[in-house]
Amino acid sequence: MKYANEISRRRTFAIISHPDAGKTTLTEKFLLFGGAIQTAGAVKSNKIKKHATSDFMEIERQRGISVATSVMTFEYRDTLINLLDTPGHKDFAEDTYRTLTAVDSVVLVVDAVKGVEEQTERLMEVCRMRDTPVIIFVNKMDRDGKNPFDLLDELEAKLRISVQPLSWPVNMGRDFKGVYNLFNKSVLLFNPNQKASDEDLIMLETIADKRIDALFNESDAAQLRSDVELLEGVYDPFGEGPYRKGEMAPVFFGSALNNFGVKDLLDTFVEIAPRPQARPTSVRTVEPGEDRFSGFVFKIHANLDPRHRDRIAFLRICSGRFERNTFYHHVRLDKDVRFSNPYSFLAREKNVVDDAYPGDVIGLFDTGNFKIGDTLTEGEDFYFTGIPSFSPELFKELINKDPMKTKQLEKGIRQLTDEGVAQLFTQHGGNRKIIGCVGDLQFEVIQYRLLHEYGAACVFNTLPFYKACWITGDAQSIDTFTRFKQANVVEDKDGHLVYLAQSEWFLNTERQNHPEITFHFTSEIH
Ligand code: G4P
Repeated sequence: MKYANEISRRRTFAIISHPDAGKTTLTEKFLLFGGAIQTAGAVKSNKIKKHATSDFMEIERQRGISVATSVMTFEYRDTLINLLDTPGHKDFAEDTYRTLTAVDSVVLVVDAVKGVEEQTERLMEVCRMRDTPVIIFVNKMDRDGKNPFDLLDELEAKLRISVQPLSWPVNMGRDFKGVYNLFNKSVLLFNPNQKASDEDLIMLETIADKRIDALFNESDAAQLRSDVELLEGVYDPFGEGPYRKGEMAPVFFGSALNNFGVKDLLDTFVEIAPRPQARPTSVRTVEPGEDRFSGFVFKIHANLDPRHRDRIAFLRICSGRFERNTFYHHVRLDKDVRFSNPYSFLAREKNVVDDAYPGDVIGLFDTGNFKIGDTLTEGEDFYFTGIPSFSPELFKELINKDPMKTKQLEKGIRQLTDEGVAQLFTQHGGNRKIIGCVGDLQFEVIQYRLLHEYGAACVFNTLPFYKACWITGDAQSIDTFTRFKQANVVEDKDGHLVYLAQSEWFLNTERQNHPEITFHFTSEIH
């Protein structure tokens, strides 16, 4: 294998959570350990600075939501870590789901007080679909949260994955004393708001070690011993296998704000997290160690400066070596393209890179050549699969307010939906344009961007649909169905037929009445 060393030292992952669980805080602590930033607060203040000074759109600034998925690359103990950030806001969940197609594992942050929340469950569903390995970090142990045993039960029941604690808390909230590491049998003492120091870590032989009695009071020591005995009885010694297969999630307890338990998490992460993995394509499985380069676009970020219509396409490298100024095959367009200024995102700065390896994510300047899901190769014709578009839940008809700007509107909506901001459907056999989104905020973003970037004014007319299903079946059945259900059948951008259901009842009825037709809730982008 030509690039074995480069591949084996890379880890590409995302931190995901329900908003407010502590994703940003944990990200910041990771970056501090990786030396990518120097001061606490840098990630947050960066956010604010970006909002105030750069070309981020006004809506985002007003609402203070991080719409963009960004990439942060840093080194930790000889491992090159690509951390893909995801927007927490649920209206942009699709963006997060797509980002998950570009990672090899995730760290899921759960709030110890709130437990598993709505967005946590949905994100986990996406991980399960792809068997993505998950490590869970139970955060905010400095607050009075749920009982840790109850939390483990809740994680298993709601996230539908077996869990295994690798660390265990001694109390919580005001009485939080620290964690016992079940993996390497050590105690880490909690020091609120202090930098973790070496003295806080005490290595033990067993849980019976007398030093525990000196570290904690009698009842805490007894509780810890009985908890650990119980846990050791229930769980087999930790093995990476089930975790790597996405069958079991190791659990850590800590407090991101206090930088507590984070190093433990990061140390274990670099040890057990999978290196860049093989990926399925329309033709065959592509192994990262192959000599020839391949990669796919999972995210397109508009340059929101209205004077420049260019965008940045985020490319995940899947095999071989990517080189600057080299021609690669753009499979969908069947043309060769090259990039003179590909970016890497080392330490949150953009740097031009000369080459990149499997697991890396690079930014490519794009003037409209890319769609989400596009594949680049060294000539071979395949595309990476498993990058679905999900069934939207809100539907509105796009109404042009200015007939003089029809062209701009058409172009704008096509480009924005290429970016994956929303999905565009066109009336079957007609010209009405219907936009499908997962959140209301996306409609506002579209309206704003159409006006400011394309000079096209539009309004939206709410439609009474609740789900879009891609339909397949033999030609005659499909033809009959679409003729009878004209008002409900639209086409997606690739010309695939989609049935829009008014309600669950309608959808179920149609499915019962038409067993010859298959209704799909996600579509592969291609
Ligand atoms: P997110 O990215 O998942 O949305 O969460 P974020 O890190 O922004 O954290 C949400 C809030 O939770 C923040 O407080 C943050 O300080 C707090 N937090 C994060 N980790 C811990 C922890 O371990 N313990 C406690 N007690 N709080 C924690 P905020 O008041 O919303 O923001 P800020 O004004 O403190 O920045």
